[in-house]
Amino acid sequence: MIKIQNLSYQYEGSGIPALNDISLEIRAGEYVALIGPNGCGKTTLIRQLNALSLPDRGVVTVDGLDTSVPANHKEIRRLVGMIFQNPDNSIVGMTVKEDIAFGPGNLQRPPPEIRRQVNEIMESLGLQSLASRAPHTLSGGEKRLVSLAGVLIMNPRYIAFDEPTAYLDPESRRRVLQMMARLHREGIGIIHITHDVSDMADADRLLVMDKGRIIQDGPPREILCKMVEDQDAPVTLPPIMELMHFLNRRGWRLAPDILSVDDAGREIHRLLSGSLPKE
Ligand SMILES: Nc1ncnc2c1ncn2[C@@H]1O[C@H](COP(=O)(O)OP(=O)(O)OP(=O)(O)O)[C@@H](O)[C@H]1O
Ligand SMILES: [Mg+2]
Repeated sequence: MIKIQNLSYQYEGSGIPALNDISLEIRAGEYVALIGPNGCGKTTLIRQLNALSLPDRGVVTVDGLDTSVPANHKEIRRLVGMIFQNPDNSIVGMTVKEDIAFGPGNLQRPPPEIRRQVNEIMESLGLQSLASRAPHTLSGGEKRLVSLAGVLIMNPRYIAFDEPTAYLDPESRRRVLQMMARLHREGIGIIHITHDVSDMADADRLLVMDKGRIIQDGPPREILCKMVEDQDAPVTLPPIMELMHFLNRRGWRLAPDILSVDDAGREIHRLLSGSLPKE
């Protein structure tokens, strides 16, 4: 479990805290979505989960290991993988293969074992054809897959994804979301920062941040429905949610927690099926 108790953090030279008295527990295997407006502190928060930043006040522990103890950092960084918003930040190797092998090399795993694992991971992510390429020559989507490979090879218990679908084409986006859902099914805890609410269909739990605080924490569909009703969403809601809400206000009886066009199609079909001609 990741446990955050009364965490506050302020960047040097800034007059206001980027994280303000946050308390939170993330259980192993949970899929948590994290949303909030630009600059509210999402990236700052996940950097605390693998000791890239340390609390000014409060305590963060990962499976019992306190992030403020330097001797814990190696294990904490293995336990909590991080897919950065900007994948360039995580590139370290001269080739894709070297880049993916960097983490296990650091842990002094035997080279033949590393080679086998690198090949296995590249195959599972469809990266073999890029093995000898220089990482900086890859496209944004390819770089993101390489950084995911570098994280997966470490066998993490949790992975924090910082806007993993930004700039991806619809097909790559679908593949990344499917991969995240698969990792979740395999028992890895997922922390997923996104601005796109339709991305979070697989999340167990939604955290909403604003100005360095967690302002909501609960079941995603419940929180989002309430936002549509109250018209106070801090992020843009999918137009399909607005449409469902609009129709319900006009007397339709649609399920209120529709997030995707597919769900909406099924729901409208259900409602109309009594009046549709038989095929
Ligand atoms: N290195 C830094 N030095 C000073 N201030 C910073 C630094 N990084 C972030 N901040 C500030 O801290 C606040 C939180 O930033 P953060 O990057 O965590 O926001 P975010 O929620 O991830 O936003 P976005 O959705 O735009 O990625 C912002 O006001 C930002 O300007
Ligand atoms: Mg961010």
